[in-house]
Amino acid sequence: MTKSSVDESDPPVLRLSAPAKLNLYLEVLSRSPDGYHALETVFQTLRLSDTVSFRPAVDPDRTRLACNDPALSTGPDNLAFQAQLAYRRLRPATPAYDLEITKRIPAGGGLGGGSSDAAAVIRGLRRLHPPGPNDDELRALALELGADVPFFLLGGSAHATGRGEVLTPLPDLDAQAPVHLIYPPFGSATPACFAALTEPERGPRPLLGVEAWLTRWHADRTGALSNRLIPAAARVEPRLAPYLDLLAATRAPAAMTGSGSTLFFLGDPPPTELPHTALTTEFRRRVDLDEA
Ligand code: C5P
Repeated sequence: MTKSSVDESDPPVLRLSAPAKLNLYLEVLSRSPDGYHALETVFQTLRLSDTVSFRPAVDPDRTRLACNDPALSTGPDNLAFQAQLAYRRLRPATPAYDLEITKRIPAGGGLGGGSSDAAAVIRGLRRLHPPGPNDDELRALALELGADVPFFLLGGSAHATGRGEVLTPLPDLDAQAPVHLIYPPFGSATPACFAALTEPERGPRPLLGVEAWLTRWHADRTGALSNRLIPAAARVEPRLAPYLDLLAATRAPAAMTGSGSTLFFLGDPPPTELPHTALTTEFRRRVDLDEA
């Protein structure tokens, strides 16, 4: 379906912000028998956001999705589309909406844009038709869509284990610096990165824990930021290697988010001739989550 398939002349009944995230810390604890990996991560939402708009569906049996990025699918393989289907399976009385996504978050970069759009659809449907499913039902629904989706129902700063769904909200982390993102002209495939983990990278290893991570963050941000997926991401995508060298070339606290390919710097990134998209943003607090 194309952009023209949603009549954007009608004002939306709801417009929600769908923020990007960083994984400030990402550790692989073990591989589970189901093939997924038990993770420990610290998520942080960013002010960089997509916008998801809701309009009552012109044809409730054929809900539509429009997106300003022609590279993205607007069909049933789009996670936001799936989110509405899954929500209405859970609550069949929920009216259908035509959705419009304004993308600002680069896709495939480890910033969680697709997961955040899907979570915004869930948040929006519940807000439009309260009370909706309870928090446990919503979290289970979100996890079916993807490991990062439950976090986007919460936002702010959060520690997570499991696949990423066992969430502990953290006090808002003050970065005291702009967040500079460097997005290479290629994304990174998450399943391939996990599949490329070596035995030692895969663990098992013990949990660091919320308090120990917070102690690191307050003592020395550089030491608090790390990502176990970095070597695997470089093996899967050799073009990433020179970008990863930038992490060593800066004095700012820096790391890769998710399975890449985006790098983030809490301070000035080193100058580089490598082709990239540069974005500057900041941490977004939990209380700001619903701002459009
Ligand atoms: O859940 P999501 O769709 O984001 O995950 C994409 C893929 O990444 C999964 O199919 C799986 O191969 C891998 N993954 C994993 N362990 C996790 C999260 C993701 O192995 N905790």
